[in-house]
Amino acid sequence: MTRLHGRRGLVTGAARGIGRQVAQRLADEGMRMTLLDVDPAVERAAAEMGASSLVVDLRDDEATRRGLAADADGDGDPYWLLVNNAGVFAKAPLLEMDLGQWDDLHRVNARSMVITMQALAPAMIASGRGGRVVNMASMAAKRGTPGEAAYAASKAAVVALSRIAAMELGPHQITVNSICPGYVLTEMGADTRSADQVAAWSAMSPLGRLGQPADVAAVIAFLASDDGAYITGQALNVTGGMCTW
Ligand SMILES: NC(=O)c1ccc[n+]([C@@H]2O[C@H](COP(=O)([O-])OP(=O)(O)OC[C@H]3O[C@@H](n4cnc5c(N)ncnc54)[C@H](O)[C@@H]3O)[C@@H](O)[C@H]2O)c1
Repeated sequence: MTRLHGRRGLVTGAARGIGRQVAQRLADEGMRMTLLDVDPAVERAAAEMGASSLVVDLRDDEATRRGLAADADGDGDPYWLLVNNAGVFAKAPLLEMDLGQWDDLHRVNARSMVITMQALAPAMIASGRGGRVVNMASMAAKRGTPGEAAYAASKAAVVALSRIAAMELGPHQITVNSICPGYVLTEMGADTRSADQVAAWSAMSPLGRLGQPADVAAVIAFLASDDGAYITGQALNVTGGMCTW
């Protein structure tokens, strides 16, 4: 498959999990990829798929701007696709929540997307070709469970941010969508995941299973392609039917 051939894409949080699978799928479809992560393991992940890498902590505004500016200058071909996938998860009951946790989740999960869009969208606009932005939200933005107030609120911010960005960037033929995965089997949350929980969550899907990173990657590849050209401002569920609104 080469439907993305000749285009350039960047995926954040691509050292492992969903982001790595998204980057691999896009590379398999011919896209020239850059993988960004705070974890230096991203260098190996990128090398394995013939991609470039950037080790950047998205909590650090200036380092993020610097890293992306240097990367853009190094190539000269503006990105067609930005996938803001990096995220962190933590749980705490509302009445006991440390506000530092609230700030940290918002900083990585939502605020960093403003910076990456500010860094990359101007060159997309200047290219006159348009582009695509995909921001990783979560089913938690629409429902969520007790203990997820900070995480769910950060993901609801992603949905709202993406909707407004779609309005502002649409006139430049840049689409912006958020993705709301359900429960995807990755290392996120693995340390607290029990077999009973997996069974209970699986039963919530009419398809009877949890998501795989490949389920999410396929939707992002579609949005990045010409077939996704008229979809913007959406918060797309990839939940196996666990969430239907
Ligand atoms: N796994 C799920 O069930 C699920 C469900 C809905 C949404 N999501 C979202 O999907 C995205 C990917 O999740 P995942 O399950 O692959 O998680 P993961 O923990 O396996 O991977 C997250 C990646 O983001 C990177 N990252 C974290 N903080 C960073 C920072 N400050 N700077 C740069 N990189 C950073 C990590 O190093 C890691 O490589 C996240 O935004 C997550 O909230 C996951």
